[in-house]
Amino acid sequence: MMAKRDSVSITRPDDWHVHLRRGEIMEMAARHTAARFARAMVMPNLSPPVRTVAEARVYRDEIAAAAGKNFQPLLSLYLTGDTGRDEVARAAEDDAIVGFKLYPAGATTNSDAGVRDPLKLMPLMEEIAARKLVLQVHAETTAPEVDVFDREAVFIERVLAPLHREVPELKIVLEHATTIEAVQFVRDSGAGVAATITAHHLLLNRNEMFRGGLRPHAYCLPVLKRERHRRALLEAACGGEPSFFLGSDSAPHPRGAKESACGCAGIYTAHAAMELYAEVFDAMDALDKLEGFASHHGADFYGMPHNAGRLELRRKARTVERVYAAGDCEVVPLRAGQTLAWSLAQE
Ligand code: NCD
Ligand code: ZN
Repeated sequence: MMAKRDSVSITRPDDWHVHLRRGEIMEMAARHTAARFARAMVMPNLSPPVRTVAEARVYRDEIAAAAGKNFQPLLSLYLTGDTGRDEVARAAEDDAIVGFKLYPAGATTNSDAGVRDPLKLMPLMEEIAARKLVLQVHAETTAPEVDVFDREAVFIERVLAPLHREVPELKIVLEHATTIEAVQFVRDSGAGVAATITAHHLLLNRNEMFRGGLRPHAYCLPVLKRERHRRALLEAACGGEPSFFLGSDSAPHPRGAKESACGCAGIYTAHAAMELYAEVFDAMDALDKLEGFASHHGADFYGMPHNAGRLELRRKARTVERVYAAGDCEVVPLRAGQTLAWSLAQE
């Protein structure tokens, strides 16, 4: 057996799906993200959402001020039924805007302004493809009769597969893939379709939500799935396949909004994103595949250069804070109060 590695050095990675929010939570989340990643695609599901290039520029400047100069925010514009082709054209002119995010209306946090029937937006999809932008998709159906654990698979069948058939030249990222069906769809769809995978879906199955009681901090969307789905994600992430790459989906909420009779979906992982992925790849004996997943595949898919800097991780225990204070509110991170096996070398 090969000796276990005690450190990993990789090209500085990118997070292709993160929620930074605004205001005091953003100060914290942007700092955590910028300590690990050179670039991140910041999700536009604010309230109100980031729908236009003008709104994105304002938001990008706020993020840049919070994250400091060694970090480049990238943005995806929130697609609505009213998004016009002129907005797509403007987005293509801005280097920091790399795509449009499709939220089915009602699928997740702040998605009310999302799209009711994505298949009715074909001319817009063709325009996004023609302008060489990418469609980022929250791939869950909102049809109320569909079981919550089947929402991703049903969306792929009813919406994503037909969309890909109709507009095959459109580059699509199936965001936060959680199922065998998602992995299979990406593998079957050629180089123009990819998926991001979160650390928490690689580490946890749905039992975690009910471990000894109801655990709101393990609730996210798409919801955690069965162990066999987690196994499929591990194989996709750790196998070196270029169509799968890192998107943490770190999604901070104030503690009170999670620990509630109707708790919000979202798991905060930005405080330890790379440490958690290192743990996953280490457990799979695949630390040599971490760099591709975290630093190369996403950049290659988006046609962007690899980052110049490097990130070093060490096998060194670190205890996670029980809670992060962000102004007037608190955010409970994944692994709160527990010990992580990996640390950033510079800490
Ligand atoms: C995200 C959020 O809170 O913004 N929540 C989540 O559970 N992932 C939204 C999303 O990505 O679905
Ligand atoms: Zn998300």
